[in-house]
Formats: sequence, C-alpha cells, structure tokens
Amino acid sequence: MENKELVRHGYNNCAQNYLKHRDLFQNQKYIDDLIDRLEPNSKILDIGCGAGIPIDKYLVEKGFQVTGIDLSSEQIGLAKENVSQAEYHIQDMSEIDFPDNSFDCVISFYAIFHVKREEHQQLFDRLFASVKDGGYLLVTMGAGEWEGVEDFFGSEMFWSHFGVEKNLEIIQNSGFQIIHQEIDQSGNEKHLVSLAQKPQKRKASLPSFDTNQEI
Ligand SMILES: C[S@@+](CC[C@H](N)C(=O)[O-])C[C@H]1O[C@@H](n2cnc3c(N)ncnc32)[C@H](O)[C@@H]1O
Repeated sequence: MENKELVRHGYNNCAQNYLKHRDLFQNQKYIDDLIDRLEPNSKILDIGCGAGIPIDKYLVEKGFQVTGIDLSSEQIGLAKENVSQAEYHIQDMSEIDFPDNSFDCVISFYAIFHVKREEHQQLFDRLFASVKDGGYLLVTMGAGEWEGVEDFFGSEMFWSHFGVEKNLEIIQNSGFQIIHQEIDQSGNEKHLVSLAQKPQKRKASLPSFDTNQEI
C-alpha cells in the first residue's frame, strides 16, 4: 500500500482505539496559552484533527469557530459526533486550498509527521498563506529525524519527520516567527511543540507634509 493509504487505512481501523488512549498526551498548557492570545470567536483550522477530542471540543466550548480536516473518514465521522458545533471535512492536509487569510490560527497535534517530510515546507507555506496577518500557528512535529513504517494499534502506519532544527527552519522559512518551542514528553514520547505568529503587515505610512511650506 502507498504511504498515504497506509495512514488513511490505519486510522480508519484504529480511530476508536486511538481515542481511548488519547489522554496520555497533555496539551492543556499549550492550548490555554494560545487561547489567551486569540480574540473571542476567532476562526481556527485543525489539520489532522482526528476525533475532535480533546482539543476541538475544548476550543468550541471556549467559543471559537473550529474547522477540522482529516484524511480518515472514520476520524471525521467521530469528530462530527463528538463536536457537533465544529465544521469537519475529509481532506488531505497536503491539498488544502482555503483562500488566503481565512483563519486566525492553525493548529495540528500529532499529524504532520504522517506526511512525507519532503512535502513539509510546501505544507507550511500553504498554512502561512491561509492564516491572517498577526495570526498564530500551534503544531507538534517530530523531535528527531526518522522515516518508516511500524505497527500502530494493529495496522501498519507511516511516519516521516525531520529533527528539531530542520523543523524550526521550515516553520521560519514559511514566514512565521517562532514565539515558543519546547520538547513535550507527555505520553512517554518526545514531540516538538511550536507556537509561532505570522507578522502583522506594516501599515503604509502617509506622506508627511511640511507644515512650514507656503502655498
Ligand atoms: C495521531 S492522530 C491525532 C489526531 C488529533 N490531532 C489529536 O490530537 O488527537 C493523527 C491524525 O492525523 C490524520 N492525518 C494523517 N495524515 C493526514 C493528512 N495527510 N491529511 C489530513 N489528516 C491526516 C490521521 O488520519 C489522524 O486522524
């Protein structure tokens, strides 16, 4: 099976089981820090949203407008049941085509490392375009370089990621400015967590008038 089909098939098989183990990972402090920076009702895109729990549910309860996309129809089916106030689509994050400046923030937890790493720069370039000026990015990525296939809840699963330095370079190359990054070790795994911001566009300055000039 091709890599992307392994991922889709793997999550279709394990969606329920994965959710049962999801609370091993602790994301509360990252989400709360993000929430403090967002305006009420902000629009958030979650790529590789899974079953919508716990993150989308929490964000919706805080009054944010959440759109989630995921490759797996099973995951999106669960997400629609779990978080009926959010909007969900079965979609490959490598093919997102939202209009520029659509979202106040893009988030992604434990998902980007299922996309071939050669495509990561292009993905972040697209995310940068889809976020409004001054908007945010909160993502987890690999903490070490690795690519391969391993068993995951009884199915073959594909992972592909760079190490910390290259990941941060990709985020910055796309135009985001890193606000905070750290290695999270919850769930007995290591993940790079990065919070970044799209710079505000400078307002064009008006021509200055010489007040002493005679007319
Ligand atoms: C480990 S789960 C994490 C789900 C959720 N973000 C969470 O924190 O619980 C990874 C998710 O990424 C999705 N995914 C993997 N590759 C994807 C792709 N190319 N486009 C969209 N979703 C993808 C999988 O289907 C799966 O639901």
